[in-house]
Amino acid sequence: MTLFDELEHIYQDALTRLAAVADSSALEAWYADALGRKGAVTLQTRAVGQLPKEERPAFGQRANEVKQALETAYAARAEAIKQEELLRDLEAGAVDVTLPGRPLAPGHLHLTTQSLRQLYSIFALMGFEVYEAPDVELEAYNFDLLNIPEYHPARDMWDTFWVKGLDAEARLLLRTHTSPGQMRVMRERCPEPIRVILPGKCYRYEQITARAEHQFYQLEGLAVGHTITLTDLIGTATQFARLFYGPDRQMRVRSSYFPFTEPSIEIDTTCTLCGGKGCRICKYTGWIEIAGAGMVHPVVLQNGGYDPAEWSGFAFGFGVERPSLTKYGVNDIRMFYGNDLRFLRQF
Ligand code: DAH
Repeated sequence: MTLFDELEHIYQDALTRLAAVADSSALEAWYADALGRKGAVTLQTRAVGQLPKEERPAFGQRANEVKQALETAYAARAEAIKQEELLRDLEAGAVDVTLPGRPLAPGHLHLTTQSLRQLYSIFALMGFEVYEAPDVELEAYNFDLLNIPEYHPARDMWDTFWVKGLDAEARLLLRTHTSPGQMRVMRERCPEPIRVILPGKCYRYEQITARAEHQFYQLEGLAVGHTITLTDLIGTATQFARLFYGPDRQMRVRSSYFPFTEPSIEIDTTCTLCGGKGCRICKYTGWIEIAGAGMVHPVVLQNGGYDPAEWSGFAFGFGVERPSLTKYGVNDIRMFYGNDLRFLRQF
């Protein structure tokens, strides 16, 4: 065989082997074998010195053609392999879009929201409209105008979260009850008669226990008119208890004290948790307090713009979590803000 024939042979052989190369590492090996520094074509090209002078240019030219042709074939094969490998990777990691998706559990309203809405509809039946007042409140509205001046010992009933950094003239706090809303409605509506409920979050700087949270909802009520009496208040509370708890539930009224009402009462219902036998939620009395209430104090009416000689009114303040606590037999008020889905999903 002449060097020319050998070159052709190497060329054909390289092409055949290239066609069989299946992945990029085999391709690199092929390149080293054929066109690398010690590859067959390279070595063959170097053998040019063995030829007689006149044949050398033709051999050199042919060797270059072969090299070019193989480089081109190599590039084409490299591109094809790259595509094949990409396709293989895609298939291996493929997402089957025809598979059914994972179902997302739909949420639902928090127990407290459900209770609030139920309360709104019960009071709507009795002609009460919803009035919203702010969570961050002026000290004057939360205390002074409700007949609780700074020196008043009753301030101890409401341990307060103060809002920092304001001057002594207009101290701000997180409302400790929804009662300041009474003053806001009265000042806005005077001299119209009033029948509103004021729902909202209240905040107290208090130890958290099974019965007490430092944040909770209250539902305040206020009715102001010319002929309103304590009987109207008790009738409203009785009607509420029937609609909210069912007709069998007992209710009782005890006399009490609040600075902004005179007379003041507290309203209890029988504890459903223990059926009246006594448990830790009802402090072993068989009764659970659901609201503070009373006839609006003349000083408060006056601060709201109403002349107590002509106007009277009743007010009440319900805890929102506590009634649903007894209604559903939840034995710890901390569950409401614990964000434990196992609890929340039950309602
Ligand atoms: N604001 C009182 C509290 O948080 C509850 C209350 C008592 C509200 C008597 C009233 C009321 O409207 O008349 O303890």
